[in-house]
Amino acid sequence: MSRPETYYITTPIYYVNDVPHIGHAYTSLACDVLARFMRLDGREVRFLTGTDEHGQKVDKAAKAAGMDQKLFADRVSENFRALAKAMNFSNDDFIRTTEERHLRSCQHLWKVLADRGEIYLGAYAGWYAVRDEAFYGEDELATGPDGKKRAPSGAEVEWVEEPSYFFRLSAWQERLLAFYESRPDFIAPSSRRNEVLSFVKGGLTDLSVSRTSFNWGIPVPGDPKHVMYVWIDALTNYITAVGYPDTESADFRRFWPADLHMVGKDIVRFHTVYWPAMLMAAGIEPPKRVFAHGWWTIEGQKMSKSLGNVVAPQALIEQYGLDQTRYFLLREVPFGNDGDFSHRAMVNRTNGDLANDFGNLAQRVLSMIAKNCDGAVPQPGPFTAADQSLLGSARALLAKCRTEFGQQAFHRGLDAIWQVIGAANRYVDEQAPWTLKKTDPPRMATVLYVLAETVRQLALLTQPIMPDSTGRLLDQLAVPADGRTFASWGEGGALEPGTPLPKPEGVFPRFVEAESAVQGHEATSPKIEVTPKDARR
Ligand code: MSP
Repeated sequence: MSRPETYYITTPIYYVNDVPHIGHAYTSLACDVLARFMRLDGREVRFLTGTDEHGQKVDKAAKAAGMDQKLFADRVSENFRALAKAMNFSNDDFIRTTEERHLRSCQHLWKVLADRGEIYLGAYAGWYAVRDEAFYGEDELATGPDGKKRAPSGAEVEWVEEPSYFFRLSAWQERLLAFYESRPDFIAPSSRRNEVLSFVKGGLTDLSVSRTSFNWGIPVPGDPKHVMYVWIDALTNYITAVGYPDTESADFRRFWPADLHMVGKDIVRFHTVYWPAMLMAAGIEPPKRVFAHGWWTIEGQKMSKSLGNVVAPQALIEQYGLDQTRYFLLREVPFGNDGDFSHRAMVNRTNGDLANDFGNLAQRVLSMIAKNCDGAVPQPGPFTAADQSLLGSARALLAKCRTEFGQQAFHRGLDAIWQVIGAANRYVDEQAPWTLKKTDPPRMATVLYVLAETVRQLALLTQPIMPDSTGRLLDQLAVPADGRTFASWGEGGALEPGTPLPKPEGVFPRFVEAESAVQGHEATSPKIEVTPKDARR
């Protein structure tokens, strides 16, 4: 048997100076959904996340906490592991840049670049923003009302003058442009691609890649007064985790180049300019794609510690549920755009899309089967045009989602799924199985079969987004563990008439309790009852 196709996906590694918030959870969630989707679709997946632990920003944070840098990093890194657990992320590896495997990998890459003449010693004199861990040209800065110079991100900059090694980035301008030209899908969405193209066309200067004014970093081989610039260290994590410097290792050969680096819009330049240039300079293939998503604001405001509006994913999970949080984040905003988080929007998605639409559909179908079909998958008779139309539209969803998720257009995939949920709810009302129960029981059995089969496919396909709830839904349809991948899509995995089903129970609860506490929230979605009316017939 031939080995499955691979899929290597990465999150940025998170700075250990901060408590995890929904912005961090968002980047990783998008990766988790793709990793799960690809596994269900038969790929051998490697999903990597981790923490970025060196550099001046972490050094300062550790000092402010009065702690040894490594102990500080150990502690904060744990918070990101805890986040991954709380969000039910299925990462296969968690890399820390303070690990031995990473030190070896970075120092090796450095030596390769130095041996190829791509790195030289000089001196840096210019502006640096510790918050962004980035160098800025004078022309990029603005002076605020307080007289302080600031980077476009709003971060304060400081003047730095020190001996530094440089990477010959300027020599890579034409080769980068040729690379972008040959790989139209390398940077997405296209607005970001245009931004990067114009930046590179504007000309590149050599990049300072070492620092001497502090020591919290990976020592430069042969010149340990220098530590590597934290971005060089950080980007290298993506190859460390697949075995670099052993480029002949099974992992490296199988998984590199990565299929997708998922990043936020703030760190596009590092991933699409510096990183491919460094890799090409070292004779390593660049990744296949970088997707930059937008940023979340909170109730219309920038999320910040000083405003005290930082949203912790754990708080959302406690309030609304894990799968509700996962669904909301990917559904609410077209992926790639900025979005605003509000409790009102969260309640609307939880109650509208999940409880009313999907939950109600599943529960009324399962309850009717439990009551009227001896608690077993009903035996269908011949299918009518209406039956075939619903089954056909459910069946078409996998191909649609392959395309949309493959382009990271989660919102479009989900929209297509919810259209079928809407169609299924309309079909229930039109077919009125509660009436058929008296007038035509065999037809009722067919209608309920069509619906159960539709719910099975909806649950299969939404597993990557809502693994827990859909798992329980598939349990209630008695779908065996080995029947839950996309290999069981369509007729091949169809429900077997006569299979006994467990007692149904709701999986998408309505958010009621704290509803009155949600500021400014009026009842925007129709109330539903916990046990739908139809189910009691
Ligand atoms: N350590 C670097 C990445 C190195 S990757 C080789 C870094 N870390 S970070 O912790 O500051 O940010 C990690 C990710 O969180 C980025 O993709 C960033 O865009 C994302 N977000 C941080 N705040 C965010 C929002 N408010 N909204 C959405 N995502 C945001 O950068």
